[in-house]
Parts: sequence; C-alpha cells; structure tokens
Amino acid sequence: MTANAQRGIFITFEGPDGSGKTTQIRRLADWLRVHDMKYEQNLEPVILRQPGGTALGERIRAILLDSRVEEGLGQIDPLTELALMFADRAQSIRQIIQPALDAERIVLCDRYTDSSEAYQGAGRGLGSERVLAVHRAICDDLQPDLTILLLPDADAALQRARRRNERHKQQHGGADENRFEAEGEEFYRRVHAAYAAIAKREPHRVALIDGDDDIETVALRVQAVVAEKLGSKIPHDPGV
Ligand code: TYD
Repeated sequence: MTANAQRGIFITFEGPDGSGKTTQIRRLADWLRVHDMKYEQNLEPVILRQPGGTALGERIRAILLDSRVEEGLGQIDPLTELALMFADRAQSIRQIIQPALDAERIVLCDRYTDSSEAYQGAGRGLGSERVLAVHRAICDDLQPDLTILLLPDADAALQRARRRNERHKQQHGGADENRFEAEGEEFYRRVHAAYAAIAKREPHRVALIDGDDDIETVALRVQAVVAEKLGSKIPHDPGV
C-alpha cells in the first residue's frame, strides 16, 4: 500500500504508558474540529486506539490487557502477544484506517507498530527486525505520515510506572487493563530506549516531544507539528 497524493493523513501517537497520549489526542481533535468548522477542509478526524478500535479489536484488547487473563488461559507467549497485536492492527487497517485515508480524512491512532517494536520487540526481547517483518507482511507496510512521540524523561517515566504498579497490586477482582503496567523496571527501560532509537532512526516521520512539560505546552507543540504536516489545509491563524 503506497501513499498516493490523494489520500488523507495518518497520524499516530506513541509513548510509554502514562505519557499523556490520550489527553493530547483529545486536545488535537478539538483543535482540528475548530478549524474544520471555520475552513471546511474535511478536518474532522477519525480517531481509534490499538489494540481496539474495531469490535473484533476490542475483544483482542480484552485478552491482551487484562492482568488476570493468564490465570485462566495460561501464560501468553511473547510471539502470541505479537501476533494478536498485529491481528488487531490488520483488522483496523482494513475496516477503519484505509477507508478513512481513501476518503481523504485525517486519522488519529493511539498507538501503532512503533508500540509493537517498543513493547514486544524490545520489552519482550523479540527484536525489531521480527516486528518490522510482520508489519510488512500484515500491514502492507502502511506507515504513518506523522508520529507524535511523547517521551518523558526515562526516570520520571519509571517512577510513574512504579506508582501504577503499586496501585495495580492493591486492586482486587474483576477485569482490568493492567497486564503491561504490571511489568518491571527493566521492561520499561527497554521500551523507553526503543522509542528513543525509533525517533533517531526516522526523524522525518517521528516528532519527538518532551512529555514532561505541562498539558498546554505539549498541546501547542503537537498543534505546531500537525499544522506543518497539513500545510495549506490549515491557514496560519493565531486567532484559533
Ligand atoms: P494503552 O491503552 O494505550 O495504554 P496507556 O494509555 O497506558 O498508554 O495501551 C495498551 C497497552 O498495550 C500498553 O501498555 C502498550 C501495549 N501495546 C503493546 O504492547 N504492543 C502494541 O503493539 C500495542 C498497540 C500496545
């Protein structure tokens, strides 16, 4: 699937758990909607998350993220985990992302293949090459036009992970979304380092934004990067 001049714009958000992606996606979507009303440039975004996004994907998500699921199903092998992440991704590309791009829409996706490279490739130790090979085979190598990487300082990110981990230990019963959050420090160090390496490897696609600044500052940076990508679709207008 090669990018053609007529298609929409595919923007992904990446970062370790708790990096503020979800808040920033909401902020960017609001900003695009304001421009959409003002300029009528088909800027209302299509928003989805991975894993999830489609009905099938939400079921896959429930398996992948529930920290209690292994009590019933046995340990999920890292390769199974990788395959499920890509099963979810394949479905959302065919059902949501590609049709939206064909309709020249802006797609905002909360996580994509960089997450698989960081979490399964580095975190689980499967290696980048294997993940990228699966991406080429399953996703027809569909690449984002822009990736916003919110990367907090490694130690700050680890402290947050530790706090979440503690909270996780105190929770009892019911399905949750904590299976990854329960991972240890070494896992998260590898995830962090992999994200930094991806940004370095692909500076034209990946906009690295310091995730430690306040929400407003980060939101303005995200808008600036996206405005540059959208070019003439968003006229420079300090009033918006
Ligand atoms: P998400 O709901 O985005 O969590 P958060 O809001 O905490 O960032 O992410 C789901 C979890 O799934 C997250 O811990 C990262 C993990 N994940 C992978 O390990 N590989 C993948 O390919 C994807 C898409 C997510």
